Amino acid sequence: MKIGIISGSVREGRRSSAVAKWVLDGAAGRGEGFEYEVIELADFNVPLMTSPTPPGALGGKYEQPEVRAWSDAVAACDAFVFVTPEYNHGIPGGFKNAFDWLAGEWTRKPVAFVGYGANHGVRAVEMWRLVVANFHMFDVRAAVALSLFTDFDGRTPKSTEQLTGQRTAMLDELEFIARRLA
Ligand SMILES: Cc1cc2nc3c(=O)[nH]c(=O)nc-3n(C[C@H](O)[C@H](O)[C@H](O)COP(=O)(O)O)c2cc1C
Repeated sequence: MKIGIISGSVREGRRSSAVAKWVLDGAAGRGEGFEYEVIELADFNVPLMTSPTPPGALGGKYEQPEVRAWSDAVAACDAFVFVTPEYNHGIPGGFKNAFDWLAGEWTRKPVAFVGYGANHGVRAVEMWRLVVANFHMFDVRAAVALSLFTDFDGRTPKSTEQLTGQRTAMLDELEFIARRLA
C-alpha cells in the first residue's frame, strides 16, 4: 500500500518540505506492506480552482495538465499524511485549493496529520478534520503537533523522544486503519 506524505505549503522557503522528510525518515524500516513517498504540493503548480463544474462532477476529467498530474499523484495513494502549517488560525489556502480540485481521489482513504505553528498547528489540523469528512476520509486521531518555538532545529523537527513517539503513534494508527480498510 502506498502512503503519500503531502508537503502542504506552496510558499517559497517553506518549512513543510523538511517536516515531510522527517516523517519519511520516521517511516523507514517500519516493516512490510507500506511504501511511503513525499508528495511536494508546490511542484504541481496547481492552478486556482475556477472550474465552472464542481470537481466532484467532473468524473476525474481535468482540462489542465497540472491538475491531471496532481490527480494522478493523489489517486495513486491508499492513505495520506497531511503535513500542514497553520495560516491565520486555519488551513493554508494553497493546500485547500489543491484539495478542492479533487474528489474521488480522496474518497474513503485514511489520513493522518502533522501540524506546526506557534500553537503546534492544532487549529489547522482540527480544521482539516472537518474538511476531509466531506469525502468520507478516515481521519486518524493520533497526530504530530510541532511548536515553531521549541520543536525545530532550523527547519527540521527535533527527533526528541516525545516527537518521535508522536510520529510512531500516528503512523501505527494510520497503518492500522489502512490495513483494516484493505
Ligand atoms: C499567511 C501566514 C499566516 C500565518 N498565520 C499563522 C497562524 O495563524 N498561526 C501560527 O501558528 N502560525 C502562523 N503563521 C506562521 C507559520 O506557522 C510559519 O510561517 C510556518 O513556517 C509556515 O509554514 P511553511 O513554512 O511550511 O509555509 C503564518 C504564516 C503565514 C505565511
